[in-house]
Amino acid sequence: MRVTAPAKINLHLRVGPPTADGFHPLSSWMVTVGLFDNLEFTLTDTPGVRLTCDDPALPTDASNLVVKTATGLLDAANLSATTGVHIHLTKRIPSGAGLGGGSSDGAFTLLALNKLLDLQWSPDRLASFASRYGSDLAFFCHGPSSVCTGRGEIVPPLAPPKPKYAVLLLPPIHMPTPAVYKRFDQLLSPNQDSALRTQDYSAWPTLAAQNLLPKLINALEPPAFSLSAPLKEIHSHATKILDGRIVRMSGSGSTLFTLYDTRDEAETNAARLRLTLGVNVQTVELAPTGAK
Ligand code: C5P
Repeated sequence: MRVTAPAKINLHLRVGPPTADGFHPLSSWMVTVGLFDNLEFTLTDTPGVRLTCDDPALPTDASNLVVKTATGLLDAANLSATTGVHIHLTKRIPSGAGLGGGSSDGAFTLLALNKLLDLQWSPDRLASFASRYGSDLAFFCHGPSSVCTGRGEIVPPLAPPKPKYAVLLLPPIHMPTPAVYKRFDQLLSPNQDSALRTQDYSAWPTLAAQNLLPKLINALEPPAFSLSAPLKEIHSHATKILDGRIVRMSGSGSTLFTLYDTRDEAETNAARLRLTLGVNVQTVELAPTGAK
């Protein structure tokens, strides 16, 4: 069985001060984007989970979310003594880029094995199981467009945005999520607003790019830019090249993006960025319906 696992971007990300367990309450509008990893599953007679990957830099041991989620699901279904699975991952989504690639691989492993082993778990049961392995996995079990709250594990759907395309800037900068949250805490002012639940997103999916972009914020930009001067520099350079257009960061970075209503506009501006910036720039569909 082959499945494609999409990346995501956080269109909007507000972050509250950490709770007693150190995690931060979030309010984030997340959408899938047309950039995909591929996963191929083969059941075997030898019990255990074996992962191979075309990217030699990626660990394929028990630290990989694909191995963690597959092992966890076989255990929970009481199949680990009798069933084995070989998973081959073809990696296209950059790691440490705020695109949720590892989380998507983990979530789509659960969705695929649920079908392949005929477990018949409901989407809600899978999403709640998935959220044990990281904040973004529940989103990928539902997708393609949700408002995520809690740590990111509460994912009611929201209609996809009206702009259909994003231009992604993919600098070769790896941002460690825990360090970005730590810097967020250091920069936090004592009277920071923590009323995340009051945000009403209901009208946002009807807004064209020009009206939607000014509403979007990412509370992790100041800490990420304070940790990485090159990322801050690319952000301000991109904004200038695009004549002041709003450019946002996804998750804890390092991917930057802006939105367009049409593919033509997106591709013209992606070409402008590519010419001057010297970083990987890609035009992708937002909330794509068909996998590539
Ligand atoms: O869940 P995920 O693997 O994305 O989280 C990585 C790290 O980011 C956590 O270990 C934690 O330090 C931080 N984090 C947080 N609050 C969140 C999500 C992540 O502090 N809501």
